[in-house]
Amino acid sequence: MKTAPINKDLLISYLSGSMFEGNVIVSQTVDSTNRALKRLASEGAPHGTVLVTEEQTAGRGRLDRKWTSSPGTNLLFSVLLRPEMKADQVFVLTMIMALAAVDGVKQACSLSARIKWPNDIYVDNRKLAGILTEFSVKNKKLVYVITGLGLNVNWCPEDRQGMRYPCTSILKRIGKKIDRTELLASILQNLDADYKKFFFEKKEALYKRWNSLSCITGKQVVIKSNEQTIEGEVLKIGIDGSLIIKTSDNQEQKILCGDLSLSLV
Ligand code: BTN
Repeated sequence: MKTAPINKDLLISYLSGSMFEGNVIVSQTVDSTNRALKRLASEGAPHGTVLVTEEQTAGRGRLDRKWTSSPGTNLLFSVLLRPEMKADQVFVLTMIMALAAVDGVKQACSLSARIKWPNDIYVDNRKLAGILTEFSVKNKKLVYVITGLGLNVNWCPEDRQGMRYPCTSILKRIGKKIDRTELLASILQNLDADYKKFFFEKKEALYKRWNSLSCITGKQVVIKSNEQTIEGEVLKIGIDGSLIIKTSDNQEQKILCGDLSLSLV
């Protein structure tokens, strides 16, 4: 269901004093906000650039899947970050984005959502949002990271379209249309605050929060990648954004996000 367009001036006013100040791009149509931001990053766009669009013609998810969204209905955006961190810790940024999205949805829509490692936000066993984090590395150092969020606000794909998982939207859960500018501002304000906490003050507090919001802790899961299939019970999400599981031979195993899929047993 189409709603008022994203209001750039209002969004900018909400983001004053944050890392996004002065770096907000609102577009009508792009191929993919992640892809477009990658192009801008390679041209030198600064840390904190955010690109939000009303429509994507080639929206992408993890594992080369498509991300579909009806124009003018949902949130589709990516942020460009240039953190000083090791490349193998980059997926902590997915967790920081997930936390910001869950908190933003709670504050702006009074809806409680949960984090499904490695990159999803769920409400009542249905997918509400997905995160795609991509990055560029040179001489083992991160050059930039792009983390993009697709959040079903006023529309979600119908189950009959052959979705791999059941989906939902904020409209479906709370029964009323949501102003996307307010919601986006809330998510970005949380992202700004959480990013600064993680890098400059209280890593521990964030780590505890994303664990308390995890919807797979204690569950039995199967994780498949090109190299291997591992089954075990989820113990926690690590401070580096990895998943810690206990396998049937009582071994703790740390799984870094990558090209893998996770399913519940
Ligand atoms: C997934 O569930 O696999 C991740 C989906 C991520 C979709 C968002 S929409 C905004 C940004 N641009 C993209 O092309 N993908 C992400």
